[in-house]
Amino acid sequence: MGLSIQSDVTRDLVAEIDALRRDRGAAILAHNYQRPEIQDLADVVADSLQMARRATELDVPVLVICGVHFMAETAAIANPDKRILIPDPSAGCSLAATIQAADVRAWRATHPDGVVVAYVNTAAEVKAESDYCCTSGNAVAVIRALPPGVPVLFLPDMYLGNYLRKVTGRAIDVWLGECHVHAGMTRETLADARAAYPDAEFLVHPECGCVTSAMYYAETEGDVAAGRTQIVSTEQMMRRARVSPARRFVVATETGVLHRLRRENPTKEFLAAREDAECRYMKQITLAKLRDSLRDLKYEVTVPPAVATRARRAIDRMLSIG
Ligand code: 13P
Ligand code: SF4
Repeated sequence: MGLSIQSDVTRDLVAEIDALRRDRGAAILAHNYQRPEIQDLADVVADSLQMARRATELDVPVLVICGVHFMAETAAIANPDKRILIPDPSAGCSLAATIQAADVRAWRATHPDGVVVAYVNTAAEVKAESDYCCTSGNAVAVIRALPPGVPVLFLPDMYLGNYLRKVTGRAIDVWLGECHVHAGMTRETLADARAAYPDAEFLVHPECGCVTSAMYYAETEGDVAAGRTQIVSTEQMMRRARVSPARRFVVATETGVLHRLRRENPTKEFLAAREDAECRYMKQITLAKLRDSLRDLKYEVTVPPAVATRARRAIDRMLSIG
């Protein structure tokens, strides 16, 4: 009884959202960490990089970003002619919150000839102080595209920064920020899962606390031969799961990715490295808030023109690399 009431409510909300989306000429873009019911009705479900790229390609007047606030800001900066909405403007990011624009200015002052590379998980004001943006999907390509010999300041994720240092061999100064969800996936989490699932392939997001030991495993002969440990963005996880010969995967990132992985690969098994790896900010977006957002055209996300102009340069570079 309770279940059928719930599904009636869901069906009605989905119908309302569909009608409003048509009326508004809107497209709904959802991150891979969104709730299953949001992913199921979105026009685009993707990682941060593909969300940003699709936002610029879609020829619609309104984009509803089902994700966290920096994603909506990025869309607003790259799409000044579109109206950008987020269903809940308080959906933040603990990683983005670890650095402010003043921190970047102070850091840069200590390396005046340096290049600042900002992960997309940053506020618009931080991007405005940066030279390049990147996501986990193209971070290696962005670092490799930098002029050789220039000091590189990478912010704000220390695990991703450390990973980039190792993969590219560049001496990168790294800001000591972390995401509380990914930092919780530690060396022990990975070691325990490897012991429990010796036949599984491991899909590890580079923001994870276990990324250094994942690299170690990936570099050991057996893992490389089997492709058993992959360090990948959420969209790269989707691609890898499709082509991998493995039947079972342990996934080290926010558990929202499991929905798409399972739906797109019904014959394969996907396990969470940590069942409690849930981003409460991503989960703030609900069907009811999405309906309200389309109905009332709220909450519009705008970026002051002076900030947007400076941030756009770093974002455009991100969109064109990798
Ligand atoms: P990607 O979707 O770019 O892999 O990013 C993960 C993330 O934590 C977004 O906040
Ligand atoms: Fe930010 Fe972490 Fe949530 Fe991603 S999972 S949005 S990095 S808090």
